[in-house]
Amino acid sequence: MKRSVVTVRIPAGSAVTYDVAVTTRACEECAAFTAKRFPDSRIALVTDTNVARFALPKLLSAFAGNRQKPFVHVIPAGERHKHLRTVENIVDIFLSKRYGRDTVFIALGGGVVGDMTGFAASLFARGVPFIQMPTSVVSMVDASVGGKTGVDTRHGKNLIGVFAQPSAVFADPSLLLTLPDGEYRFGLSEVVKHALICDKQLFGQLRKNGTRLLARDTVLLHDVIARNIAIKKAVVEKDEREGGLRQILNFGHTIGHAIERNSNYRMNHGEAVGYGILYESLIARELEILPESDVGQIRGLLSQLGIVGKRKLRLDPKRIIEFTKSDKKSLLGEARYVLINGIGSVHRDGRRYSIPVKDDIVRKVLSEVE
Ligand code: GLY
Repeated sequence: MKRSVVTVRIPAGSAVTYDVAVTTRACEECAAFTAKRFPDSRIALVTDTNVARFALPKLLSAFAGNRQKPFVHVIPAGERHKHLRTVENIVDIFLSKRYGRDTVFIALGGGVVGDMTGFAASLFARGVPFIQMPTSVVSMVDASVGGKTGVDTRHGKNLIGVFAQPSAVFADPSLLLTLPDGEYRFGLSEVVKHALICDKQLFGQLRKNGTRLLARDTVLLHDVIARNIAIKKAVVEKDEREGGLRQILNFGHTIGHAIERNSNYRMNHGEAVGYGILYESLIARELEILPESDVGQIRGLLSQLGIVGKRKLRLDPKRIIEFTKSDKKSLLGEARYVLINGIGSVHRDGRRYSIPVKDDIVRKVLSEVE
């Protein structure tokens, strides 16, 4: 059985590290790690209503032999519940059980569960450790690594939160086999994003192996997940707090988050990011930063993976532009965009990784794609 491990050291050069393991024995490894690292801790396991049905039994049976058993708190599934009240609830439940500084949280779920559980752990008793057990493509390849935690507000996505690194991450590619088709496919947009910002070879592999990827070939999935975690590690080790370089991970997200918010968080995050990638590539073309032929390849891959082109979006450009201005990369209320100047290469303006774009250009590209 294949096992890959990526060790993350934040900040680079520090003595503190954590491992991100990709393995079909993720549940067993999580149980063993918890018993060894936190032998006397109480275990606060947070998951959501969807994941509770397919992945929770596997994790709980892995803990069957452990002295400490997890207490499970199930939150409602979906980005619409990613707000402070849900985090307050998580904290309240475990406080009411008299959990204290001897608590370790485990986040079992996708990006929403991971972001909120990490945030709850970092607030709980002024901060306790947490472990990430990602169950979605987005959380395996991106969200569970790098320590971004937080919630959305009515002003926009992820506007409240902290950077808090997990103690370990265990990703089981076989859990992806049970995901609904859309959730799986749309999650691949974060993989496409990583390829576009820094890995031309990965982009080529995705094009070549699109069918195998959609068929959820687990051998391929293992390698794709491990490769993406390595990309994420390389970025977050250099810039944990998004002072500069880490912004590149937001490619596709200025418009993507605005589209998601415009849908009242009913649209899948990955699908919104897929369209965000396409629109932001068109912006780069309009600015004569990215050649038309690259845009064609990007559109081709996003369609091949079934991320874009399946429905008519009918976006109101005024509303989308308005929403982009409360993106967290905004400066003085002005939206900023990470753009690429080729497949696998981010555009830089001097030392900046994100630049302002005129509303007219955004309006033009928003009306170009149906
Ligand atoms: N998902 C983007 C980041 O972690 O910075």
